Amino acid sequence: MRLVMVGAGYVGLVSGVCFADFGHDVVCVDKDPAKIARLKNGEVPIFEPGLDTMLEANMRAGRLSFTTDLTEAARDADAIFIAVGTPTRRGDGHADLTYVYEATREIAVLAAENAVIVTKSTVPVGTGDEVERILREIRPGANISVVSNPEFLREGAAIEDFKRPDRIVIGTDSDHARYVMTEIYRPLYINQGPLLFVSRRTSELIKYAANAFLAMKITFINEMADLCEKLDADVQDVARGIGLDNRIGAKFLHAGPGYGGSCFPKDTLALVKTAQDANSPTRLIETVVEVNSRRKKRMAEKIIAACGGSVAGKRIAVLGLAFKPNTDDMRDAPSLDIIPALQAAGAEVIAYDPESMEQARQVLNVGFAEGPYDCIEGADALVIITEWNAFRALDLKRVKASLKSPVVVDLRNIYRPQEMKALGFTYHGIGRGA
Ligand code: UDX
Repeated sequence: MRLVMVGAGYVGLVSGVCFADFGHDVVCVDKDPAKIARLKNGEVPIFEPGLDTMLEANMRAGRLSFTTDLTEAARDADAIFIAVGTPTRRGDGHADLTYVYEATREIAVLAAENAVIVTKSTVPVGTGDEVERILREIRPGANISVVSNPEFLREGAAIEDFKRPDRIVIGTDSDHARYVMTEIYRPLYINQGPLLFVSRRTSELIKYAANAFLAMKITFINEMADLCEKLDADVQDVARGIGLDNRIGAKFLHAGPGYGGSCFPKDTLALVKTAQDANSPTRLIETVVEVNSRRKKRMAEKIIAACGGSVAGKRIAVLGLAFKPNTDDMRDAPSLDIIPALQAAGAEVIAYDPESMEQARQVLNVGFAEGPYDCIEGADALVIITEWNAFRALDLKRVKASLKSPVVVDLRNIYRPQEMKALGFTYHGIGRGA
């Protein structure tokens, strides 16, 4: 199959590289000439484990190329994927679809007579209808079909998620599109997860519903964690105890500082808006959004309390800035709420993250350390915001010796309370009893 991926962001790039790895011919198109120049050189502009090797191998095999010019690429493509950004629109919280419709208009002029246009970007219910309307307006005679095919990959585990998905959701009522999509995903469904064919609007909603449900699961366990702190119970054990029930499931029950990232905050908000507009408000998700954003701010208060009620003039070492490990992504990271709040309370913050410091420099005004031990040296407290494996493996005796006072606030529960106590730390986890 000849495929075109419009938008070489996270989803577009990972999908494009993986489709090429399935054996398809893939052209990735992006408007940003600097990004395309880097990609042509085999440089991956995002941090995603394994992506660089796969990209290089498929470029070498002649199945994967990059361009800023859609014209050549689109002409004889069997399917054209729209994987451009859908950020939160300023002012009202809706998804901003400017880039999606811009791409649609360009594709409409260039696509082959029976091409399949696929929206992979996360788009509100009804976007496929509008994409189709635009296409028909510009190309009234063509037999082009519009399919919704949301992507469920996680940053940091993107290749694994793409290649071993739990399911592939395809929203269409066209037989031709169904055939093309089945061919595209054939390498996957022979071995793995089911292809789920649904209506286009249903497919669009599935993506939002999945993200909202996961965000709700995290928010639920976070509230249980708060309760555990009051009731002297342990949230890790509560999570295990409920997660072993198959109806609940063990995943996404890790209590922490609140969810962040490029999807959950944006998509929960967009779903809330869509539901309000449809006069069918999703009260649960409205609450999730509110509880989560309050939680991120509250984490600074937790740290201040752990420091005896004031951080004025104190040096706070922060390990982990990205919204989660194995990514350099800072979008909606809890660190962006926590660090400025600590600074506003008079703290000097020194931070270290294995991958995201370059990104962090653009959004945070803090001192950056060269490594975790430099960061900790002479600090009045250590705060873990992101659970990188490197931080689990720290020499805790050395950490203790480096800190001016042995206060550890572990917002990801990467250490064991008993062990930390035995080492002489004053340890504060999330939801771990008194
Ligand atoms: C998410 C969805 O998982 C993915 O299916 C969708 O396509 C895009 O959004 P991603 O944002 O990459 O993926 O990361 P994810 O691993 O889901 O984590 C999101 C946030 O939730 C992070 O801030 C993470 O720290 C937090 N989280 C996750 C928890 O606090 N506890 C958990 O148990 C799981």
